[in-house]
Parts: sequence; C-alpha cells; structure tokens
Amino acid sequence: MTLDKNPEKIHTMFNLISEKYDFINDVMSFGTQKFIKSCCIKNLDIKSGDSVLDLCCGTGDLAGMIKNRGANVTGIDFSEKMLDIAKDRFSDICWLQGDVTNLPFPDESFDYVVMGFGLRNIRNAEKAIEETYRVLKPNGKFMHIDFGEKNFLSSIYDKVTPLLVKFFTENSFAYSYLIQSKREFLSPDELIKDFESKGFKFQKRKDYLFSVISCQIMKK
Ligand SMILES: C[S@@+](CC[C@H](N)C(=O)[O-])C[C@H]1O[C@@H](n2cnc3c(N)ncnc32)[C@H](O)[C@@H]1O
Repeated sequence: MTLDKNPEKIHTMFNLISEKYDFINDVMSFGTQKFIKSCCIKNLDIKSGDSVLDLCCGTGDLAGMIKNRGANVTGIDFSEKMLDIAKDRFSDICWLQGDVTNLPFPDESFDYVVMGFGLRNIRNAEKAIEETYRVLKPNGKFMHIDFGEKNFLSSIYDKVTPLLVKFFTENSFAYSYLIQSKREFLSPDELIKDFESKGFKFQKRKDYLFSVISCQIMKK
C-alpha cells in the first residue's frame, strides 16, 4: 500500500516528534548524520555573501552549517515546532514558516538551494522541484540529500532502526513511517531523471555510508 502523505498529517507528525528529532537522528545514524551533512555541503563552493535557501530545514542542521561559511541563509519549513528549535539553535538565520510547494520568493532569488531528507515526505514532490527551479538564479545549484540505494546495508538499517527507536520514544509511528517512505522513495538515478525533466542539468552525485545516503547536485 502506498503511504498517505497528506500534508496536514506530515505537519502534525513533525510537530509531535520535534523535541526528540535531533537526538533520534543521531541514534538512527549511529552518530554519523551531522558529519555526512557537513561532507555534502563541502561539495558546494558556497562563498561568503552567497544567498542560500534550505528547504524543509527542520531543526536547522544544514542551514546552520552553511551560515558558518558566511552565506546569507534562509530556512523554510511548515512545522512551527521544528522551526522553534532551529531558531533557538541559530539566531542569525532568516527562518520562515511555509510550504515548499508554494515558495514565497520571486523567481531567480538564490545562488543555492539545498534540501535534506525533505522531498520524500512531500505528496506533491513535482511541484516542490518546480518551485526549487523557479527560485534558483541561472547557473544556480540545487543539492538534494536523502537515503540512497536500497542495498543490503539499507535493509539492515530498516530492521535495526525500529528497535532502537522503540527504546527511546513512544512515538514509534513516525519512525515506521520513515522506513516505509524510505522503501517507496525513488532511487538516486530515478531522482536525477526527475530533476532533469524539470530543466536541471546533472552535475555530481556523491554517496555516503556505503550508498545508504546519497547526495545529488544539479545545476539550473
Ligand atoms: C526529515 S525532516 C528533515 C529536516 C532537516 N532538513 C534535516 O536534514 O534534518 C523533514 C522536514 O520537512 C518538513 N516538511 C515536509 N513537507 C513539507 C512541506 N510541504 N513544506 C515545508 N516543509 C515540509 C517537515 O516539517 C520536516 O521538518
């Protein structure tokens, strides 16, 4: 059965898990998630003064790391509770509550757009990709990060994660959702084709943790 990605349900789910989100992410990734995110960002040549948009920014990991490079960073997410944590962690970033399928920015506003672990949760993912393309400047770059190949290691992860998560939270629904959304999500190659169909040109793909995580960089 295909997952129900009703935006209201997804919004409520992330509000409910917001307080434990960072901690559980560290547990589920065996402490590697922040390191992998920082490796992904190194694939981009972000300079001081560049304008960068973090879509589905959540508690602000990617936006915070990019801010450290001197860029002007905006983070957008529809969960006010995830954003509250982001605001507490990084005060010098422009945080906005909004839906990434309907971005509140003029065309060609940003040098870079990044999105980590967001697209998989969006029912109208096609619209989110079109909006990403629209707000990027010509030659601007889009970096997308999420789970990658469905290989042997990835299937072990699917089995171990629910057990770990049960140990730390009562809200295990969100994490069974995560496993199913991961199983149903497009492969990195399929994603690249999808991005290309919206006008993007493929630049680079980098895989981490034996390809369990994949990062694709596309150019407008
Ligand atoms: C798995 S979290 C990823 C957070 C962060 N990017 C990270 O890497 O840790 C997914 C985030 O996407 C947000 N989200 C999902 N659908 C969205 C939408 N249509 N518009 C804005 N935010 C959305 C959720 O609220 C949640 O904070």
